[in-house]
Amino acid sequence: MTHSQPFDVAIIGGGIAGLSVALRLPEHVRVALFTKGQLGESNTRYAQGGLAVALGADDNPELHLQDTLAAGAGLCDEDAVRILVEQAPAAVRWLIEVGVQFDRAQAGIDTHATPDGLLLGREGAHCRWRVLHAGGDATGAEIERALMTAVQKRPSIALYEETFVYKLMMRDGRCVGLQATRRTGEALEVEAGAVVLANGGAGGLWLHTSNPQGATADGLALAWDAGAALTDLEFMQFHPTVLALNGSSHLISEAVRGEGAYLRNHAGERFMPRYSEQAELAPRDIVARAILSEMLAEQTDCQYLDLRHLSAEKMHARFPTISACCQQYGLDLAADLLPIAPAAHYCMGGVKVDTYGRSSIPHLYAVGEVSCTGVHGANRLASNSLLEGLVYGIRIADVLGGVLMADSRDVANTQKAVSYLHYDDTLDTKASFLSNVGELPSVAQVRQEVRQLMWQYVSLRRDQDGLLTARRQIRTMRVALLQQADQDPQWRETENMLRVSELVVTAALERRESRGSHWRADYQTVAVDQTAHHLVFEPLYTDP
Ligand code: SIN
Repeated sequence: MTHSQPFDVAIIGGGIAGLSVALRLPEHVRVALFTKGQLGESNTRYAQGGLAVALGADDNPELHLQDTLAAGAGLCDEDAVRILVEQAPAAVRWLIEVGVQFDRAQAGIDTHATPDGLLLGREGAHCRWRVLHAGGDATGAEIERALMTAVQKRPSIALYEETFVYKLMMRDGRCVGLQATRRTGEALEVEAGAVVLANGGAGGLWLHTSNPQGATADGLALAWDAGAALTDLEFMQFHPTVLALNGSSHLISEAVRGEGAYLRNHAGERFMPRYSEQAELAPRDIVARAILSEMLAEQTDCQYLDLRHLSAEKMHARFPTISACCQQYGLDLAADLLPIAPAAHYCMGGVKVDTYGRSSIPHLYAVGEVSCTGVHGANRLASNSLLEGLVYGIRIADVLGGVLMADSRDVANTQKAVSYLHYDDTLDTKASFLSNVGELPSVAQVRQEVRQLMWQYVSLRRDQDGLLTARRQIRTMRVALLQQADQDPQWRETENMLRVSELVVTAALERRESRGSHWRADYQTVAVDQTAHHLVFEPLYTDP
């Protein structure tokens, strides 16, 4: 085991959240930044639509707040949302100073722009044109480019790429560092004054996802293993429109519907007005469920996105990435019906943090998708995720850098009621149980099977029988995996997937109501006898 010199701050994850923390910290702070792949391979890079911020002349943070709360289906924490929307304009100015080039309006052509000329897009459940974007539909890639360039120029940031963090080190109840394996196989131990989890993304737990392969819920597993509280894990957002062709995972941005695209069923009907007054621009959970209902009614495996009534020239120019992707499949974005279906996209739950990013473990912070600040509630408003990583990343850096004074610890507080789950996920390794496993599947087979199970039983429609089946089979696979004792990064990732899947299923079982992205066929309406509440997992033990 190689011991590096100690750092002030260790950051795990290289998307907008982790990079914002790293760059915003003062230059005298010694930072170590860990990414399990190469820097730049993150969910951020694939974000198309953009970054929501109330900068339009007809807009203000209060309207942004109201839209966020309405989409969140009663479960958002309003204080956290207020911080998000009010601090968004300053955070975006900082991002522009760092070098991000958002698209600008062309005089006399573009109508929706900020007073200083930034082009604005529209997405579902936003009452205003409010979404900044770059390269048309390559917003995440542009943000990642600019932040990476700045990070690489900063001598106080030590980069550990292709380094898989598998354990948080704890001493006297505090997080004091991490253990990792480098691509070369070298084991590494790093002490740090604070550790920031910014390695969100759990879409890889489901068979169909818009996320890249690496989204295997590693941050949630690390936090859980160390004894941190996790919350709202039952809320996984399914993006309504992922290209449904040959196992493709290409997202077709909600901004396409923002520009006026329709959803049609196989009969050619524009069906969304039957489901919501907001039609194609209803919140994502509603649109995704409507698409599923049409698929089930028609016994088909996709529905269609239709841009044929829009200007072809404008659509190709506005969505160059999507246009090129469609072309690869022999489709013309503007002239053909595009087959789409929902797929796992964004985890609303995560490591429970307060409004300074502090987890329930001293010196352990979390930010971005791996965290749960409470801003997304039960269903995230489109384009609030990049924003959350940015705003809360800046806050964590300002706290750690001494610029912002955090209140006394308030991580246990939330504006909603809380039910605690003291779930014991330790495995029963008795011989009788092990004997049920049969022939051992390979790590790759286990991964595929868990993704299939999660897709079949823990997606847009859930019920008790299916959830219990999923949990039983996941536990069996955990035992099977344990027999392999191969503990390389692939194995560890798979173990992370299984552990977090089991928690997601358990939370989904416990929430006996339908709310936001969590829809129970056996509890179809939002429970009237129950105000909105969070389910919080507290581990039964804390690692020494
Ligand atoms: C999209 O462009 O539709 C995805 C953006 C988001 O998830 O907010």
